[in-house]
Amino acid sequence: MAANKKLLMLPGDGIGPEVMAEVNRVIGWMDKRRHVSFDVQEDLVGGAAYEVHKSSLADETLEKAMAVDAVMLGAVGGPQWDNVARDARPEAGLLKLRKEMDLFANLRPATCMPALAEASSLKEDVVSGLDIMIVRELTAGTYFGEPKGKDTYKGQERVIDTTSYTHDEIERVVRAAFELAQKRSKKLHSVEKANVMEVGVFWRQIATEVAADYPDVELHHMYADNCAMQLVRWPKQFDVIVTDNLFGDILSDCAAMCTGSLGMLPSASLGAADESGRRRAMYEPVHGSAPDIAGEQKANPLATILSYAMCLRYSFDMGDDADLIEKACANVLDAGFRTGDIMTEGATLVSTEDMGQKVCDELDKLAA
Ligand code: IPM
Ligand code: MG
Repeated sequence: MAANKKLLMLPGDGIGPEVMAEVNRVIGWMDKRRHVSFDVQEDLVGGAAYEVHKSSLADETLEKAMAVDAVMLGAVGGPQWDNVARDARPEAGLLKLRKEMDLFANLRPATCMPALAEASSLKEDVVSGLDIMIVRELTAGTYFGEPKGKDTYKGQERVIDTTSYTHDEIERVVRAAFELAQKRSKKLHSVEKANVMEVGVFWRQIATEVAADYPDVELHHMYADNCAMQLVRWPKQFDVIVTDNLFGDILSDCAAMCTGSLGMLPSASLGAADESGRRRAMYEPVHGSAPDIAGEQKANPLATILSYAMCLRYSFDMGDDADLIEKACANVLDAGFRTGDIMTEGATLVSTEDMGQKVCDELDKLAA
């Protein structure tokens, strides 16, 4: 079968290359057992790119990212680049990819697989069966607002970050969230700080306007601080949450921890669809580069493997294969295999590679 599905792999830094290797293992399985092949390219991003190009995202890498059907990213960053200028830091490469590819809708599902309910720091009944989706705006807000930087004010050094949103930047992400809510349980929480911020007031107004087009979806407004509290109090009250870039960064870590481990959570970052229905897309685990355990085969590859499942679902319309991979991951956990981050008493501790292999073994069984 012709390999017309173009994927760009950007493993990045820290544990990125190790967890991405396990995605390659699953891709190999798909090729061999499902006869689905991908045209896979690989390139550098983050600190790894900085070491070669003195830039965390080379122009030619960005060009490749713009040309493929989907990008799979591992993780970026590490202490060795802490003192590098801000625009060359590993994180800058990631932010540039998000901005240039115009990936405004960042989908961060937080689902608690039954086998992991006891790994959460919250009580089991609070989290078991949890299934929520945070939609984070990803290309505007505090991350990109101008002015940004240092100046002098009243004789002192001063720093400035700006939170700004245009009408369209809010409207498009809110619409994406309503559309998702329609396919789920038809409940949407729009989260901001309308009690303090102009952006919040505008956000709430636009969410209310857009709601008129989705009469079947129940819209709730919530302040971001309250949302953080509610997420650890009773997360199951939520289904879809839509929020800005900065609140989304914070609330998604919070939701992630409800599920037992950051090492479990995938994400999809999507752009607008063109006339042919094709959208730019990047898939990455929510966790970071974990430099403390890099290279030790201790990392949990499931978030990255599950990100690949999201890639199949959203970029290639291969929902059945995505389901299969998700099921395989759940079965491996049910069978008691754990990486260190989700280890519990009585379970079997496995390495990154072993976990990837177990997923493929399980896929073999499911596909038989
Ligand atoms: C995330 C990360 C990034 C962010 C960092 C690595 C720049 O925390 O994807 O949540 O702040 O967006
Ligand atoms: Mg984050």
